[in-house]
Amino acid sequence: MADDHDAAEDAELTEKLTEKERAAARAVEFVRDGMTLGLGSGSTANIAVRLLGELVRQKGWHVRGVPTSFLTAALAAEVGLPLIELNDVARVDLTIDGADEIGPGLALIKGGGGALLREKIVAAASDTVIIIADSSKLVAQLGAFPLPVEVVPFARAFVERRLSALELNPKLRLTRDGAVYRTDQDNEILDCHAGAIPDPEGLGRELAAIPGIVEHGLFLGLAHRAIVATGPDVRELLP
Ligand code: 5RP
Repeated sequence: MADDHDAAEDAELTEKLTEKERAAARAVEFVRDGMTLGLGSGSTANIAVRLLGELVRQKGWHVRGVPTSFLTAALAAEVGLPLIELNDVARVDLTIDGADEIGPGLALIKGGGGALLREKIVAAASDTVIIIADSSKLVAQLGAFPLPVEVVPFARAFVERRLSALELNPKLRLTRDGAVYRTDQDNEILDCHAGAIPDPEGLGRELAAIPGIVEHGLFLGLAHRAIVATGPDVRELLP
């Protein structure tokens, strides 16, 4: 019985991985020689980074990547993708990134991997943002996935009280070892177990008005296209 259960879980994981690979492969078709690329973070974006490394090697293309996290920067270096600082480019042509949830109008929750601040900055600096995902990420309403809120450590308790007053049920993110999780900017994350978010724009405005919040994981009006794989089908969604 236990073996059956494990086999079913393994099959589900393999299918998710294949969906991520299919979505990433389609997104990489949008890349052209000479582009400055925003490199997302997370397991799906990592697949795209590896494919980009192969593309550059095979075609001899000159692309440059702006990484959205230290982990992505390390992976890009490993696969031979040249990197550049956001401060040293006038614009980013195309960003390919993952998401934790994709809702109506391509409203997103991001930051499950903790890279929301740089991801949002790079997305905002990009001419085109393509979100890649497996089918589990597509939702009718945002909120089942806890909404990450990045806070300055100095302000954590204050922000936590404000978030609780908004009934967002914040929980301080910890590492597997039980230490307080720190972002690449050395900030902390409060994951808000808010449940359904019927008005993402309104909530985004409320969060932006709380001092001490550096950024939140609602990505609204930033994605230009989502590529979502469901089994063998790959769908492209527009806002
Ligand atoms: C990291 C993110 C990721 O894009 C998001 O967590 C999705 O990750 P994965 O592709 O591993 O499911 O926002 O901050």
